[in-house]
Amino acid sequence: MCSLGLILLLAFQTYDVTPSYAPGVMDPPMLATQNPVCSNEFFRKFITEHHRYPDAIKWNANYTDFSPLLCHVRSQNIKQCMKRKNIQKIAVYGASNVNRYGLQLAETLKRIGFVCNQTKRENRQPIHRIDLDYFAAGNKTLRSLMVAGSDYFCTGCSSYQITCKSKDSDDVNIEFISTENVNTTKLVLKNSTVAPTYEHFIFDVYLKKSFPDLNIFFLPMNHIKRQPIERFVREFPVTLLPLVKKVKPPTSDFFFIPGTSEFEECRTGGAEKYKYYLWHGLLASDAIRKLNAQLFSILETDIINGEVSSFLDLAEVTSSLIHMCADGSHFHDKWYFIFWKVFLNVYCHED
Ligand SMILES: *[C@@H]1O[C@H](CO)[C@@H](O)[C@H](O)[C@H]1NC(C)=O
Ligand SMILES: *[C@@H]1O[C@H](CO)[C@@H](O)[C@H](O)[C@H]1NC(C)=O
Ligand SMILES: *[C@@H]1O[C@H](CO)[C@@H](O)[C@H](O)[C@H]1NC(C)=O
Ligand SMILES: *[C@@H]1O[C@H](CO)[C@@H](O)[C@H](O)[C@H]1NC(C)=O
Ligand SMILES: *[C@@H]1O[C@H](CO)[C@@H](O)[C@H](O)[C@H]1NC(C)=O
Repeated sequence: MCSLGLILLLAFQTYDVTPSYAPGVMDPPMLATQNPVCSNEFFRKFITEHHRYPDAIKWNANYTDFSPLLCHVRSQNIKQCMKRKNIQKIAVYGASNVNRYGLQLAETLKRIGFVCNQTKRENRQPIHRIDLDYFAAGNKTLRSLMVAGSDYFCTGCSSYQITCKSKDSDDVNIEFISTENVNTTKLVLKNSTVAPTYEHFIFDVYLKKSFPDLNIFFLPMNHIKRQPIERFVREFPVTLLPLVKKVKPPTSDFFFIPGTSEFEECRTGGAEKYKYYLWHGLLASDAIRKLNAQLFSILETDIINGEVSSFLDLAEVTSSLIHMCADGSHFHDKWYFIFWKVFLNVYCHED
């Protein structure tokens, strides 16, 4: 019965199924024992063979957990994993959704015994303009060379740092670095050939002295969809991607994460004007799915070679989460927390 169910699910490409097993059962025993454990290495091998992620997933009945159908997510000791992998600095990149991912990453660390405090935050005045002092980090020479360029669209996306301490571990520093696209001029350096773009500044100057051990770049597809998809396809492979590959030390891990779904029915307040809005002919979620697919084809070779990593198509993973929808493009905190649970359990599994 179970394997027939699985075949039917795959045949109909039915993602996001609520399973018919007992409510809340995450790993139906038959699937769990037959399937390998989800790990980055499992994903990498799967992509090498199938040229796609094992994107068909299932949520448990109370929507507190999800897992690919073709592997199962095993709970890991995240604290030991951080020690083993020597992770002291984690950077998350993206826009207002990543503001929330960063806060829920700190919540995740609190659950495993860390005490976390925000230590620094961009003070944007006006709210759409980057805070140069934040990124100068006290270096007056550097500050004198800085110029603010294009404004942000996003509010609620000021960068911040959170320090997490625990008695029996090294500190873990989290930084959210606000990034709205892949090749921008939010901040540039005068007369510089080093930093012709904000992204160059971030990776070549700002992070140069101490590159984060774990980097998770959530492509802000909700912003990127404002421009034609072709522009992302043209820019990403010749701007951000080669830059990251150039600056990333071999000991650091770098993930490019696909965008999440949006919900037209749920757009309220300031977002209401975008209800059923067409972005270059496509509804928001359709545009994001196309962008995610393009992201995967651009990254495929680098993922197979282990240069960078990615993750499941989050537009698929989140497409059934209308009950967690906050305003059409953001979710309740719960989603961001669940993301980290699954992401870290996959990241930390080693065969
Ligand atoms: C959801 O199900 C899981 C797994 O059975 C259980 O551990 C958890 O307490 C449930 N959560 C809620 C909010 O009901
Ligand atoms: C966090 O900040 C609070 C308030 O500023 C302070 O009382 C506390 O000692 C800090 N905790 C740590 C672990 O730094
Ligand atoms: C300050 O910034 C300048 C320009 O980027 C750099 O050359 C210098 O090394 C920095 N100084 C310190 C103390 O980091
Ligand atoms: C930048 O270049 C211009 C023109 O070459 C020069 O006038 C200016 O002093 C330079 N600025 C800095 C900060 O080096
Ligand atoms: C990236 O941005 C810089 C600065 O605006 C621009 O000069 C360059 O042409 C852009 N690159 C691409 C591929 O669009």
